[in-house]
Amino acid sequence: MRVAMIGTGYVGLVSGACFADFGHVVTCIDKDATKIDALNGGEIPIYEPGLQQLVAKNVDEDRLFFTTDSRDAVRNADAVFIAVGTPTRRGDGHADLSYVYAAAEEIAGLIEGFTVVVTKSTVPVGTGDEVEAIIRKTNPEAEFAVVSNPEFLREGAAINDFKRPDRVVVGTDNEEAVKVMRELYRPLYLNETPIIVTKRRTSELIKYAANAFLAVKITFINEIADLCEKVGANVQEVSRGIGLDNRIGSKFLHAGPGYGGSCFPKDTLALSKIAATAGSDLKIVDSVIEVNETRKRKMADKVIDFMGGDVAGKTIALLGLAFKPNTDDMREAPSIEIVKKLQAAGAKVRAFDPAAMEEAGKVMTDVLFCDGPYHAIENADAVVIVTEWDQFRALDLERVKALLNAPLLIDLRNVYSPDYMAEHGLEYTSIGRAY
Ligand SMILES: NC(=O)c1ccc[n+]([C@@H]2O[C@H](COP(=O)([O-])OP(=O)(O)OC[C@H]3O[C@@H](n4cnc5c(N)ncnc54)[C@H](O)[C@@H]3O)[C@@H](O)[C@H]2O)c1
Repeated sequence: MRVAMIGTGYVGLVSGACFADFGHVVTCIDKDATKIDALNGGEIPIYEPGLQQLVAKNVDEDRLFFTTDSRDAVRNADAVFIAVGTPTRRGDGHADLSYVYAAAEEIAGLIEGFTVVVTKSTVPVGTGDEVEAIIRKTNPEAEFAVVSNPEFLREGAAINDFKRPDRVVVGTDNEEAVKVMRELYRPLYLNETPIIVTKRRTSELIKYAANAFLAVKITFINEIADLCEKVGANVQEVSRGIGLDNRIGSKFLHAGPGYGGSCFPKDTLALSKIAATAGSDLKIVDSVIEVNETRKRKMADKVIDFMGGDVAGKTIALLGLAFKPNTDDMREAPSIEIVKKLQAAGAKVRAFDPAAMEEAGKVMTDVLFCDGPYHAIENADAVVIVTEWDQFRALDLERVKALLNAPLLIDLRNVYSPDYMAEHGLEYTSIGRAY
């Protein structure tokens, strides 16, 4: 099949490369010429494990192309994917659909022959109807079907998630379009990956409901963690104790500094707005949004309290800035709020992240970005583990202690155990573990 991918960001690039690896001929399009030039020069503009090799292999085998010019690729495509951003709209919290609609207009004038237009971006219920109306209005002669096919990949594990998903969701009433989608995902189909074919609106809602549910799970365990601290319990043991119940499941029960990233914050907010507009409030989701926002700021208070209540003039080392390990994505990362609040309290911040420092530099000021974890820790008055990159899991604690002005370690990801830290003479606090 011939595929045109409009938008070559995290989702477009990974999906494009994986579809090419399935054997399809894929052209990834982006209006950002710097990105396309980089890709054509063999550089990957994002950090995603395994992506460099996957892209290189499929480019070499003439199945993967990059361009800023959508014309030929869209004209010849069996399926055109829209994988552009749907950020929070400034001012009101709804999803900003301007990129999706602009892409739909662009596609409309170009498609030839029966073409499946697939919305891979996360979009509010009813967006597919609007995309269809835009194409119909711009090009009344066009033969096409608009399909919703939300993406569930996780940054940092994106290739595996795309190639071995728990399920593929396809939202359309059009039989021809279903055939094209099945063909596109054929290798998964042969692996017996469940393919859920449903109505477009249901498919659009599945994506938001999935993300909101996961956000609920994280926020729930975060609140239980706070309770554990107050009542002398251990949240990791609570997580295990409840997670082994199959009805609950053990994933997404790791207490931490609050969720961030490019999806959960904006998608929970957008879902709340969709529900409010439909007159069907989602009180649980609304609470989750509020609790999570407050939590990120509370993490800075936790650091300040542990340092004796006053950090003016003190130096704090942060290990990890990205919203999670194995990505350079800084969107809505808890580190942003933590840094802001520590700086407002008068602290100087030094930081190290294995991949996200360039992105962090765009959203943080006055942070000294360091060459490695030990460089960040040098002469700091405390060290805070913010993101659980593997390289922070086995720090040389004698060296850490020697480099610090005061032996304080605040572990917002529960990477270490309190006993282990005590053995090494570090004063230690973590999340939700009274012991
Ligand atoms: N990042 C994730 O982990 C993830 C996971 C699942 C779903 N999603 C959803 O997928 C969508 C894309 O997310 P992302 O993280 O890949 O975004 P991104 O910002 O990384 O990439 C979007 C790309 O689209 C390009 N673009 C915008 N309008 C364009 C146009 N008209 N023509 C060509 N290119 C255009 C931008 O230049 C940008 O490179 C969003 O709706 C997001 O919610 C993201």
